[in-house]
Amino acid sequence: MGAGIAEVLARGGLAVVGVEVDRDALERGRGHLESSTGRAVKRGRLTAEAQQEILGRVALTTDFADLGDCDLVIEAVPERLDLKRRVFAELDRVCRADAVLATNTSSLPVTDIAAGTSRPSQVVGVHFFNPAPVMKLVEVIATVLTEPDAVTGVAELVKGLGKTPVTIGDRAGFVANRLLFGYLNGAAAMLESGHATRDDIDTAMKTGAGLPMGPFTLMDLIGLDTCLQVLDAIYAESRDRRHAASPLLRELVTAGLLGRKTGRGFYAYDGVEQAKPDAPDGPRPVVGIVGVGPLADAIAALCDRAGTQVRDSAAELAGCDLVVEAAEDAEAGRALLSAAAQAVKPGTVLAVTSVDGSVIRQAMATGRPADVVGLHLPDPAAPLAEIAATVATAPDVAGRAAELAGRLGLTVVRCRDRAGFIVDALRFPYLNDAAAMLGAGYADADSIDAAMTLGCGYPTGPIADLDRLGPDRAVTVLNALHAETRDPALAPTPLLVEHATAGRPLR
Ligand SMILES: NC(=O)c1ccc[n+]([C@@H]2O[C@H](COP(=O)([O-])OP(=O)(O)OC[C@H]3O[C@@H](n4cnc5c(N)ncnc54)[C@H](O)[C@@H]3O)[C@@H](O)[C@H]2O)c1
Repeated sequence: MGAGIAEVLARGGLAVVGVEVDRDALERGRGHLESSTGRAVKRGRLTAEAQQEILGRVALTTDFADLGDCDLVIEAVPERLDLKRRVFAELDRVCRADAVLATNTSSLPVTDIAAGTSRPSQVVGVHFFNPAPVMKLVEVIATVLTEPDAVTGVAELVKGLGKTPVTIGDRAGFVANRLLFGYLNGAAAMLESGHATRDDIDTAMKTGAGLPMGPFTLMDLIGLDTCLQVLDAIYAESRDRRHAASPLLRELVTAGLLGRKTGRGFYAYDGVEQAKPDAPDGPRPVVGIVGVGPLADAIAALCDRAGTQVRDSAAELAGCDLVVEAAEDAEAGRALLSAAAQAVKPGTVLAVTSVDGSVIRQAMATGRPADVVGLHLPDPAAPLAEIAATVATAPDVAGRAAELAGRLGLTVVRCRDRAGFIVDALRFPYLNDAAAMLGAGYADADSIDAAMTLGCGYPTGPIADLDRLGPDRAVTVLNALHAETRDPALAPTPLLVEHATAGRPLR
């Protein structure tokens, strides 16, 4: 990170002094700088002369005293509080009294680092993302001790380097990591609970939530040791059990299975491609829809796109392969499905669209619960179907439901009958955390959205997501998750409830 940050500063025309522990480390740092700028030259993004100018602006040394004239020092030593405090004591000794001292820590409290110096008012966090020359986001962290001028000065400098600074307070994980790692740990806990498989969770979040990669692929890429370290640091402050690293993650780290860098983590990277199951083949299923409303319309539109026949009158249900209950009200849905259950031929799959963990209740009311599954389309515009089997669903029925949905051109994932199925169960707690940050005044909506889009590569930020999905839907899903788990952190945050009640978006 140190080499990356030095490159960003030198590219911005600033003179940089890079300090390393010893000559070997210094040469490694020089190698990083040369190869990174060299790649830019090869790609035609930088001329050879510009590269030389950039490298000429970086003086490398092993002597802290060479930092004596610097206006700003950015520390990027390993993520250990004792080490950072030692380095800051040394910086405090050698740097000018008016120099600003910054830490690139990902998750340690900046206040703890600042408090060990004689100038806590001049200490800030500047959290660059990896790789620093590419990633646009920089979180600028002010502690309660930081002088406002030091913060604005650093934010302006960051902006001048072509980056987007987001100024926030000193909370473990800041914005991006706090939101991201809560979600990643939620995915690990979901896997551990047996609710869904690794592959189905990854597929669901990619296809159904439009994320660039699923949570297990991302954790393997970040490194499971880093994930564990960040979660431990966030948990130390939040004491929120959702930040308590999943035992599965800890076990993988203890076993030395750290992800891509060691060849195995949640996945094995042994060059052996996992065979992908073939898309189910066969005639388009005949689908019956009972109930009216936007959900029923969305399913009818989907069937239309797939070129399949839709039957929605009671008399026609006998010829259906799949009957979907899509009523807006659970009680009406129960009555409609029970009537449909009498009309269909044996072997017809009955699907319930409620995602509040109540598929089993609807199923019992039909008198033939073995034929009932849950079916959820987390985003009607995305080709993902989540199929939930209850304890009463016959195993072959769940398989048949998955096959029928596949023949409608949908990617299918399977899970148990729990609130939110997969996508909603993982994304709404994350969105709730973002709304809570906004409600607490920790960061504004633009900063929160920028943190996730520019820092984590999300296609849209959480506040924009909440407004797209609707605060009322968020409150409904969160209430269901809270009712099921009794976890206070899953109760919808007051700001969200207020916006849902007022029918107003967050922005
Ligand atoms: N790697 C990332 O993705 C990432 C992203 C954002 C922030 N960070 C943060 O940046 C910091 C550095 O992370 P990294 O991944 O670059 O670590 P790293 O271990 O790759 O590099 C740390 C460097 O610090 C040097 N060092 C150790 N002690 C030193 C000392 N006393 N004086 C001078 N140099 C010393 C080491 O020789 C090493 O080159 C951490 O606080 C980390 O949390 C990392």
